[in-house]
Amino acid sequence: MFKINDNYLKLPGSYLFSTVAKKVKAYKEANPDREVISLGIGDVTQPLAPAVIDALHKSVDEMAHAETFRGYAPDLGYEFLRNTIADKDFKALGCDISADEIFVSDGAKSDSGNIGDIFSIDNKIAVCDPVYPVYVDTNAMSGRTGEYNPDTQKWSDVIYMPCTAATNFAPEIPKETPDIIYLCFPNNPTGSTITKPQLQEWVDYANKVGAVIIYDAAYEAFIEEADVPHSIYECTGARTCAIELRSFSKKAGFTGVRLGYTVIPKDLKCGDVSLHSLWARRHGTKFNGAPYIVQRAGEAVYSEAGAKQTMEQIAYYKKNAKTMMEALAGYGYSVSGGVNSPYVWLKTPDNMTSWDFFDLLLEKANVVGTPGSGFGPSGEGYFRLTAFGSYENTLKALDRIKAL
Ligand SMILES: Cc1ncc(COP(=O)(O)O)c(C=O)c1O
Repeated sequence: MFKINDNYLKLPGSYLFSTVAKKVKAYKEANPDREVISLGIGDVTQPLAPAVIDALHKSVDEMAHAETFRGYAPDLGYEFLRNTIADKDFKALGCDISADEIFVSDGAKSDSGNIGDIFSIDNKIAVCDPVYPVYVDTNAMSGRTGEYNPDTQKWSDVIYMPCTAATNFAPEIPKETPDIIYLCFPNNPTGSTITKPQLQEWVDYANKVGAVIIYDAAYEAFIEEADVPHSIYECTGARTCAIELRSFSKKAGFTGVRLGYTVIPKDLKCGDVSLHSLWARRHGTKFNGAPYIVQRAGEAVYSEAGAKQTMEQIAYYKKNAKTMMEALAGYGYSVSGGVNSPYVWLKTPDNMTSWDFFDLLLEKANVVGTPGSGFGPSGEGYFRLTAFGSYENTLKALDRIKAL
C-alpha cells in the first residue's frame, strides 16, 4: 500500500490567497451589483513593455523556421541571458558574480520552494515574521518545521524573527542559532527594507555561525533609497554564505510569463561540497529550462528601451503606493512600507484582527486587501494593500476607505 507524504496533513488551512479568493467569490455571488476593487493579491496589472513584446514576437518567429528553431533550453539558462544578468544586475553594482553562478528558472516561487531540496532535513530555519508564506510552507512539506500549534500559529522547529513596529519591521539576530536564514527585502508583506550596514551584520553573523542566507530580492526593482542594497552581494563576505533569488514578475510584469533566477556563488560550501554543484544537479534533473522565447523576453528587459519602459511601469505602481501612503495617513491610519516597495502595510484600526478588518473592508468598502496574520503571527493586527491596481481604482478604493 502506498503512503503519502503526511507532512502535508500538518499544514494549517489552505494557502492564504485561496482563502481570500473564496471569501471574495462568495461576496460577489451574494452581491452581484457591487463593484469590488482588489488591492489584495500581489499581481501586476500593466501590460508587458513594448520592447518585451517585440522580443517575444521575434523569438516566436524564430521558432517557425528549422534554422532558428530551438528545442530544450540549456538546464541552467541561455548564455545570452545569464551574461546580461551578470553584467546588468551584479557587475554594474560592483558585485562579484559571474554568469555561471546564475541559474535561470521559471520564477522565485519555485526556486524559494525548491531550494530546500539541497539541504538536510535537520537544518533549523529562521524566518522573518510576517513574511511570504512559501518559505515556511515548503519547509513544512519537507518535514523540517516540526509540529504546528494552531493557538500560537507557529511551528515548533521554526525560529520566528518578529518584524513589528517595535523593530522598525526589521528582524533582529535570533537568540537561538539557525542553520538557514530566509531574508526577504524589500519585504513582502511589510514593504520594509534594511540598510546595507544592517544587511552586512546578517552576512557577518551567517559567516560566523556557519549559516546560509536565502535572500529573496523579488522586489529589488522598487528600491529608490540610496542606502538600501539591491543585492546581498554588495556586502563583503556574502559569496561564502548567501543565495539570492530574483524574479522578473514584479520587475517587468512577468507574473504570467514566468521567469526568475537564483544565484549560488561557487565559494558557498558546506565542508568541501559546493552548493552550486548540488543546485546544478538538482536543477538539471528536475527542471528542463525556461522557454527560449521567455528568456529572449527577459533579455529585452535589459535593453535600453526595455529598461526605460519597465522603469516607467514601476514608477506607475510607485505613484499608486505614494498616493495610498499619503491618503491613508491623512485618514488617520498608521502606515509603513510603500516607499521601496509596492506594498502598504497598515495597522488595523481599533485593534481589530486582520481578518475582521478584511471583512469590514470587503463588505463596507468593497475593497479587497490581504490580512496581515496570513503572513505570520506577528502580522496579526496589520493589513496589506498593494499598489498593483490601476491609478483610477486606487483612487476609488481610497475614497471608499475614507468613507468607512
Ligand atoms: C517575496 C516573494 N518572492 C517570490 C515571489 C514569487 O515570484 P515569482 O512570480 O517569480 O514566482 C513573490 C510573489 O509574490 C514574492 O512576494
